Amino acid sequence: MTNNELRDLLSELSLQEKIDQLLQISGAYYYNDQNVILTGPCEDSGVKIEDARRAGSIINATSAGFAKTIQSTHMKTCSKNIPLIFMADVINGYKTILPAPIAQACSFDPSLVEAGASVAAAEASAAGVMVTFSPMVDLVNDSRWGRVMESAGEDPYLSCVMAKAMVEGYQGEDCSKPGRIASCVKHFAGYGAPMGGRDYDNCELSPLTLIEDYLPAYKAAVDAGCELVMTSYNLLNRVPTTSSRELIKDTLRESWDFNGVVISDWASIAEMITHGLCTDEREAAFAAFRAGVDIDMGTSCYSNSLAQLVESGEIKEAEIDSAVFRVLELKNKLGLFENPYKDMDEVAEQNLFLCDKHRQIARNLALESFVLLKNEGAILPLKKDQKVIHTGPFLDSQDLCSSWSLFAQKDSTVSVKQGIESHKEISEYMLYAGEEFNDEFYNCVASAEKVVLYIGEPSSMSGESRSRANLTLPDSHMQLLRNVYKLNKEIITVVFGGRPLEIQELTEKSKAVIYAWLPGTEGGNALAEMLYGDAVPSGKLSMSIPRCVGQMPLSYRRFSTGRPYNGSDYCNGYIDVLPTPLFSFGYGLSYTEFSYGPVLLSGYTVSPGLPITAQCIIKNTGFFRGTETVQLYIRDCVALVVRPIKELKGFKRITLDPGEEFTVSFSITEEMLKFYNRDYEFKAEKGEFFVFIGDSSDTENKQLFYYDDNK
Ligand code: BGC
Repeated sequence: MTNNELRDLLSELSLQEKIDQLLQISGAYYYNDQNVILTGPCEDSGVKIEDARRAGSIINATSAGFAKTIQSTHMKTCSKNIPLIFMADVINGYKTILPAPIAQACSFDPSLVEAGASVAAAEASAAGVMVTFSPMVDLVNDSRWGRVMESAGEDPYLSCVMAKAMVEGYQGEDCSKPGRIASCVKHFAGYGAPMGGRDYDNCELSPLTLIEDYLPAYKAAVDAGCELVMTSYNLLNRVPTTSSRELIKDTLRESWDFNGVVISDWASIAEMITHGLCTDEREAAFAAFRAGVDIDMGTSCYSNSLAQLVESGEIKEAEIDSAVFRVLELKNKLGLFENPYKDMDEVAEQNLFLCDKHRQIARNLALESFVLLKNEGAILPLKKDQKVIHTGPFLDSQDLCSSWSLFAQKDSTVSVKQGIESHKEISEYMLYAGEEFNDEFYNCVASAEKVVLYIGEPSSMSGESRSRANLTLPDSHMQLLRNVYKLNKEIITVVFGGRPLEIQELTEKSKAVIYAWLPGTEGGNALAEMLYGDAVPSGKLSMSIPRCVGQMPLSYRRFSTGRPYNGSDYCNGYIDVLPTPLFSFGYGLSYTEFSYGPVLLSGYTVSPGLPITAQCIIKNTGFFRGTETVQLYIRDCVALVVRPIKELKGFKRITLDPGEEFTVSFSITEEMLKFYNRDYEFKAEKGEFFVFIGDSSDTENKQLFYYDDNK
């Protein structure tokens, strides 16, 4: 449809028909055609059946057959031939499940992450999904919060890179094209910083922290062209973001020029009553609509109150028109007026779901997301004829897919046991998946050359409303490790989980540790490949791993205090634990080793329009071909607001053969030196800086340079 045709359509709609477009309901309303009895969230939502059946969009009703039935019923009954949009939470794949987003970010490989999102889009669109509620780009630095698994971790720069990769992977150049879906970035804004790590809690972010650290990833998604933005459950500056005109109208629409659809989070409009911001649905609808929320997800606030608000003159019909127009535009961009069924196709479902190509991408992503944290005495990789016992609760488990794998078939996940068994060349191994630590098992452990333990946090312990006050592994898992340790010290531990956990004791008792996160459908195959050396680890942590829960929140991007930690009294730290993480952001080993030469600069002064080049020679000094993520950090030594001690500003992945070396170059531009100052101006300040090039945020391989704005 042309824009004019779309405008004509809008002008033909009655007020009620317009308001219908602003309601999103659960697919559950369509489960049975006759005699529907509402229960659970549908009943709680307060949305009446008759309103629901006129809604403009549906959440989480998927599979080509079901979606087609709903759409064809709708097209027969709706008055102006406006198709429904089907939206869903396709967070880490549809049927082929990819590693959790926090794990994907450890790949530092945006092109592979983009390929993963394309896989998700292809499968989801065949099943009728037209919009995914992804990526979640909430910055996180407190792993008590259960949703850290959905984010790209603690660093703003990496979060921006991953946000762009995911949006482009879902949408491609044009989301109307076959196999593409529109992307909805969430949760706007600041949802990743709930106090105490408790889900839905207040977020206390200073204006500079919000603007400089938290907002850029949403902006990166908007700049990458995402079609929708979702609000969040938290308070920001003491108001629920769903009512924040500053965020939605001023920042998103005015400053960022976002013209797409803004949708509430599930029930977040009605929840403003519970928050104590509004007395009833009418006030809640008014607050959200006034702030700029177009679609009410899952409550009756808009459907019950917008008409009254227009009649009373509190909201102008022209404002409703603008919101509805954005929804119609989205439908048009998806090509739904020409084809309401878009890619829904049972045959395509069969061909695409879990196909070899998709599995291979999921496997590659899993391989790149594993982080090797320790490898004492090069105990890894295992040799295929070595007498190794593999054991632990995750050995024979298909619980390898993270929360939000809503559409996965659990039995299609390859367990580690299956991965090892199907790896033909592995000969001398024993798999012990039992829970019981009996005499026979003891004997096997004692006589094995090496023991590989698969332990961690079950997937049900992370995700939405899965905040934890403890970050320990289950007791039985740790007990198994301790028992094994008494008999055999050649331990390799593979840790699963959706968040950085407390692994200090585990690390001390293990010769090697691999952080495997929740690796998805191909996790078992990928692990067998990596443990036996057919793949070499390259993942780097997207989120620091703490020594203990009391360190939360934790981030490498700390600010210098007046009393930096130095181990003495009255310095910034704890009396009972070091202030540093156990493993820092950006850290991760390989089976091979890389040496870093000094940082060499092409000049010592950066000025407007005149960047300098920083170079470093990286050499593979080990015995395996391997990939390294070379990281660039910058510190602004003195400024009118205190700057973080180090900030990631770039990275490059390089693959080198043993003995090979490569000169990695980064351009240091004025843009990289800018920050928000006291007057909220984004600019660089004259003075001294350090550039660091290294293998993690711990690097001290640095060089001094200057910025001069007059040169
Ligand atoms: C979550 C969102 C999700 C929505 C719809 C909410 O509870 O916070 O991330 O997209 O539900 O399922």
